[in-house]
Amino acid sequence: MKGIILAGGKGTRLYPLTKAVSKQLMPIFDKPMVYYPLATLIEAGIREILIITTPEDMHLFQNLLGDGSRIGCSFSYVEQAEPNGLAQAFILGEDFIQNDPVALILGDNLFYGTHFIEQLKKHASYDGGMIFASKVSDPHRYGIVQFDANRKAIDIEEKPTHPKSSYAVPGIYFYDNTVVEKAKQLKPSSRGELEITDLNRLYMDEKRLHVEVLDPGTAWLDTGTIESLMEASQFVQVIQSRQGILIGAIEAAAYQSGAIDKQQLSLLADELEKTVYGTYLKSLISE
Ligand code: DAU
Repeated sequence: MKGIILAGGKGTRLYPLTKAVSKQLMPIFDKPMVYYPLATLIEAGIREILIITTPEDMHLFQNLLGDGSRIGCSFSYVEQAEPNGLAQAFILGEDFIQNDPVALILGDNLFYGTHFIEQLKKHASYDGGMIFASKVSDPHRYGIVQFDANRKAIDIEEKPTHPKSSYAVPGIYFYDNTVVEKAKQLKPSSRGELEITDLNRLYMDEKRLHVEVLDPGTAWLDTGTIESLMEASQFVQVIQSRQGILIGAIEAAAYQSGAIDKQQLSLLADELEKTVYGTYLKSLISE
């Protein structure tokens, strides 16, 4: 399975912070935001990853992440000239996807939980589409899924004014290879975007959309507002200092999922030796 990180958009809700620098490069405590979704894909066993950014920001992402080979992955990059919608990722990514299934993760979504990674691995080769649902207190801000009495998903709506449930769809999606053709069929919504919710509806119409409720032990944070950005930093700081681990460390994710060996991890740790980050990577080697 291949992976796409969507890290474009204008980030206007975080202005002036994001006027000159991409939102997905903002710090979440001790790492750039994009590290967290990237680590999630790597932990799920995905090695070939496409990063979609604005034309202005692409070189910054390339400076930060390179071609991925240092952590046993392959990263490529594509520009999205305008934020025309999440589903455009599959049109822009067509050459990258080729004949494979693909996962999309939003560059501003953060997931944390060991069961979550198990859930991801279990479904990595699902036939059709696979999305998650998670209870939220502000459902009008998200894609919302409605279930029947047997927990079968029966409807999905984007940011409904009168939500029929409080189950939001988090920004991680798994699709079979028909996603490219489906994305091409979409028409822009009233806000002018190719909506991921419309794409999910196409799978639902075919009765091939699988919706799984997120394990209650999984934390899902999005960083769309300045308050949620701050909360995400606090969350990472608290977990890291209590549990003595690092969340979103891409080198650790690569090592723990078998993409790199001890020797390579040691080289990467040496470069970060003056930081807690480097010390943590070193500690993994001696474990
Ligand atoms: O966070 C989950 C939610 O993400 C879902 O529940 C919704 O169904 C989905 O539409 C999306 O809603 P948002 O309103 O949060 O999407 P937003 O426009 O903020 O975009 C999410 C991220 O994707 C953001 O970091 C910017 C980036 N993006 C967005 C668009 C529209 C792009 O890179 N390109 C785009 O064209």
